[in-house]
Formats: sequence, structure tokens, C-alpha cells
Amino acid sequence: MRNMLRPILLHPNPKLKKVCEPVVKIDDALIKLSADMLDTMYHAPGIGLAAPQIGILSRIIVMDCEKEEAAKRKPIVMINPEIVASSDEENIYEEGCLSIPEQFAEVKRPSSVQVKWLDKDGAEQLQEFDGLWSTCVQHEIDHLNGRLFIDYLGAIKRQLITRKMQKFKREIAREEK
Ligand code: NI
Repeated sequence: MRNMLRPILLHPNPKLKKVCEPVVKIDDALIKLSADMLDTMYHAPGIGLAAPQIGILSRIIVMDCEKEEAAKRKPIVMINPEIVASSDEENIYEEGCLSIPEQFAEVKRPSSVQVKWLDKDGAEQLQEFDGLWSTCVQHEIDHLNGRLFIDYLGAIKRQLITRKMQKFKREIAREEK
């Protein structure tokens, strides 16, 4: 079956604020969903996508932080990912989000994290991430807990971005009429 690009929900949306449910069964539908998520992410283009961003409240994320040509893709699908250890050292990255297009802000997070997850075969994986991968995996796991990168900002900056997004969504809605 061919993969399908899924529409990405835009902030503000109540589905982006929900705590997602753990996956209990890895079946064909879930494998297909993860393939769709990767295609949707590459197409956007982005380096990470969480299931709630396409309206599915399950603990699934996909990532690929290799900014190389297609031949060097390094897709990772994580089911029920969990951060098991974080470094004391922190790092600041300018983050963005496919659900908050064209808005960027610096966010401080642990510079490396150890993550445990299930792969598509149901095998448990444990790996340490640093650099952009570390920022990305923390950002995506936050999505599974209803948390956006703008939640790390001060109230004024967060409200400013939210108002810009509300305006942007009104404009899109008008164009679609
Ligand atoms: Ni995001």
C-alpha cells in the first residue's frame, strides 16, 4: 500500500495539548501509520513528527536529523519512547515545530539524553542522543505529553506566537473558502 501524507494540525489545537496513550499492540496499521508519518515529515520538510500532530493520540514519534540527501536518510521510529537519563549539562537550540510554522525560539534543554523505546518489531532499544538529535527527541516526546516548545518561553512571547498562529489559521481558512 502506498504511503499517505497526513495533514499536520496547527497550534492552537486541543489535540496538541493532550497526554497520549501508550501503544499496546504493534500491528500492520501502526507500521503503516509510522511510514505515513515519516513521509509526512520528509515532505514538510521537518526533522521530527509526533503522532498527535496528525491527530492521533498515541505515543509514536518519528525523526531524522541527518540533514543530508535522500540516500543518507536515517529514519527512526520510536514507540512508547521514554527518557531514562538526562545530562546536567544544557544546550540552547533555536527550535521550530511543524505545528507552529515560521515561528522559532531558543529553548534550553539537557544536552544529551538516554532514551528507551520499542522499535517497529517490538524490540526494546536504548540509545544516547546528543546535539540536534537530543533536542529533537526531547521536543517530540514533549508532544506526547501535550507540551510544545513555546511552553518553555515566557508568557508574553508565548501569547505573541499563539496570536500570530491564530491569525495565520484564520487566513488559511479564508483562502480555503
Ligand atoms: Ni514539534
